[in-house]
Amino acid sequence: MNVYDSRRMADVLIPLGYSYTDDPKKAEVVILNTCHIREKAAEKLYSELGRYANIKEKRKTKGRTTVIAVAGCVAQAEGEQVLRRAPYVDIVLGPQTYHRLPQMVTRALSKEGENSKSARILDVDFPVEPKFDYLPEVKTEAFSAFLTVQEGCDKFCTFCVVPYTRGAEYSRPVEDIVSEARQLISCGVKEITLLGQNVNAYNGRWHSVGSGAASLAQLLYELAKIEKLELLRYTTSHPADMTDELIHAHGELDKLAPFLHLPVQSGSNDVLARMNRRHSRDDYLRIIDFLKAENPNLKLSSDFIVGFPGETDEDFLATLSLVAEVDFVQAFSFKYSPRPGTPGASMENQIPEEVKSERLTQLQALLMSKQRRFNEACVGTVMPVLLDRPGRNFGQLAGRSPYMQAVHVTAPADYIGKRVNLKVEAAFTNSLGAVFADTPLSFWSEKLERNDG
Ligand code: 5AD
Ligand code: SF4
Repeated sequence: MNVYDSRRMADVLIPLGYSYTDDPKKAEVVILNTCHIREKAAEKLYSELGRYANIKEKRKTKGRTTVIAVAGCVAQAEGEQVLRRAPYVDIVLGPQTYHRLPQMVTRALSKEGENSKSARILDVDFPVEPKFDYLPEVKTEAFSAFLTVQEGCDKFCTFCVVPYTRGAEYSRPVEDIVSEARQLISCGVKEITLLGQNVNAYNGRWHSVGSGAASLAQLLYELAKIEKLELLRYTTSHPADMTDELIHAHGELDKLAPFLHLPVQSGSNDVLARMNRRHSRDDYLRIIDFLKAENPNLKLSSDFIVGFPGETDEDFLATLSLVAEVDFVQAFSFKYSPRPGTPGASMENQIPEEVKSERLTQLQALLMSKQRRFNEACVGTVMPVLLDRPGRNFGQLAGRSPYMQAVHVTAPADYIGKRVNLKVEAAFTNSLGAVFADTPLSFWSEKLERNDG
């Protein structure tokens, strides 16, 4: 979601005459968009800020101004502290107020030189009217795009800071989402990933009076009607919101990727209860059975936390046994990081760092072996892949498989933006190597030669 938000922040500044730059030395405005989900993410902010402070200082000697803004969830949670620790920061803004960036930047520039405390801006409000109503039309050159449909969370898992930093659950109206999707498609986008912290809790109204609310499943059916839209994904889901209707959509909707990121966090019922996850291990396994019954090709990925307060060896073994039982093809796993203000942070029996590290190593080894095994099982299969970027090596292009694996293929540059059938020939831990599946070789080498020329 931060990738989506970062793009939107740049979009709102374009009417002021700004454009993107990759070179921080040239930037008149630098925005650091931050994540507060774990300690490591927040730590990065201050080391990065030091770098931009130096650049700001150097630019100043040449008579150039630089506005530095800190956005996102660290800003939301630690706004005052950021201003105190980093005196060269001009603007601190939370994730719900970035539609106001033009005014903030204008104000920061007008106060430039005053160097007083009052010249600095802190806007960590939760506005009643959602920012989406004030954002300009999206523009993109990408073929695969994110689209935020839902934000915030009311679940209050005891480890998680999201309900405090992103705020209460909010779903965008259906027509606004359809119109943003159409706009993305008119820019050339072919795949859309719907985003939400708790995306399957989506419950959006229609603008048309009396139409009631739409569920995520209904939204997916609505979006699938857009002819040029080739593939839909959605992330991240909560097991408790996997409704029968949504599970059924996985069997019915051809445009829905056969892949679902469904975080489970732990395989132990005791830990799940203390995490306030609202589901048991068996509930999770049952959902997977239903999903597989609807679509036998569906594969899963998940998130895991090790070392949550009170996690015993037995609890941890339950997580390992869950991983052994479910064919996860990818996963993210983390050491529990106490987040200020969350119930988990003040729970008894915090787990020592070395135990967390040891458990993480063990879990990741198991998850990696499963990922690798799945990648190896893909060798010889044919997959449709949207080639959307240059590959690792010269002459290669890359894209994502339906299962989110990175796939590399030798291909002419003008194949970027095309969906092609690829035959997988090589499996690595984090990617696949492939060749074109149904393109005659003679034609293929001709294309390559033409490209070389
Ligand atoms: N510590 C460790 N991992 C966390 N996550 C969320 N909060 C924490 C925390 N305090 C992980 C969860 C979530 C993912 C986005 O980040 O696994 O699903
Ligand atoms: Fe955080 Fe997800 Fe739990 Fe919401 S459902 S509190 S975003 S982990």
